Amino acid sequence: MHHLDIRDLSSAYGSQQILKGVTLSADKGEVVSLIGPSGSGKSTLLRVLIGLTPPTGGDVRIAGETVNYANRKSVRALRDRMSIVFQQYNLFQNMTVLRNVTIAPVKIRKRDKDEVHTQARALLTKVGMAEKEDAYPDQLSGGQQQRVAIARALALNPEILLLDEVTSALDPERVNEVLDTIRSLTREGITMIIVSHEMAFVKEVSTRVVMMDDGQIVEEGPPEQIFDNPQKQRTRDYVGTILRH
Ligand SMILES: Nc1ncnc2c1ncn2[C@@H]1O[C@H](COP(=O)(O)OP(=O)(O)O)[C@@H](O)[C@H]1O
Ligand SMILES: [Mg+2]
Repeated sequence: MHHLDIRDLSSAYGSQQILKGVTLSADKGEVVSLIGPSGSGKSTLLRVLIGLTPPTGGDVRIAGETVNYANRKSVRALRDRMSIVFQQYNLFQNMTVLRNVTIAPVKIRKRDKDEVHTQARALLTKVGMAEKEDAYPDQLSGGQQQRVAIARALALNPEILLLDEVTSALDPERVNEVLDTIRSLTREGITMIIVSHEMAFVKEVSTRVVMMDDGQIVEEGPPEQIFDNPQKQRTRDYVGTILRH
């Protein structure tokens, strides 16, 4: 049984079909990266997975359990297992770093406050932000804020982590610190679905790379296949273009 099993998933905005039957699986601890041109549906796929955009067909199973996206309780249970980090880190501006990380586990999950704080400090250490626990977001660089956002997502103890272009809004010199953080997470057995334009990074950390175009999967395979020996012309064209830049 796959950890995450997506079958024939479709989604639409109004009458415009966006995802056109995506079938994809990930085993526990796998790092699956989605690449493909802007508008190909990568973000939509992640949004459907986490229950922000309703699917119009197909199904998603986590460890064999089908998610019912029409049911609030099922979506809540899903979010106990899956977290997402976006390009725009969206930290709560009026809260310290520590409170940003602890608020959901304490207020929503009703977990023990001391235990949550201990874990939050460990996570902030892991992302290299321990010294900043009392800082407010506007006192931090974009890269630092994004690392806090990652710690905040991890404080929910996700089995599956979705990362949507988390370095795209950062100054170039801040990209590596965030990639280093993600790199360390890939060794911890969290199943990850990553959307990123950092191709060297994608090639290095992914167990599998998925090429998307026009709401569909064009090709998937190990990074060596996708980047060095693509089997489809569309993949060859896309990879050729981005690697030339
Ligand atoms: N909220 C929305 N309303 C209408 N169309 C949308 C919305 N979000 C995305 N789209 C459209 O869905 C398609 C896929 O977008 P997206 O999933 O963001 O692609 P990607 O992340 O691969 O760039 C695009 O054509 C985009 O214009
Ligand atoms: Mg996107």
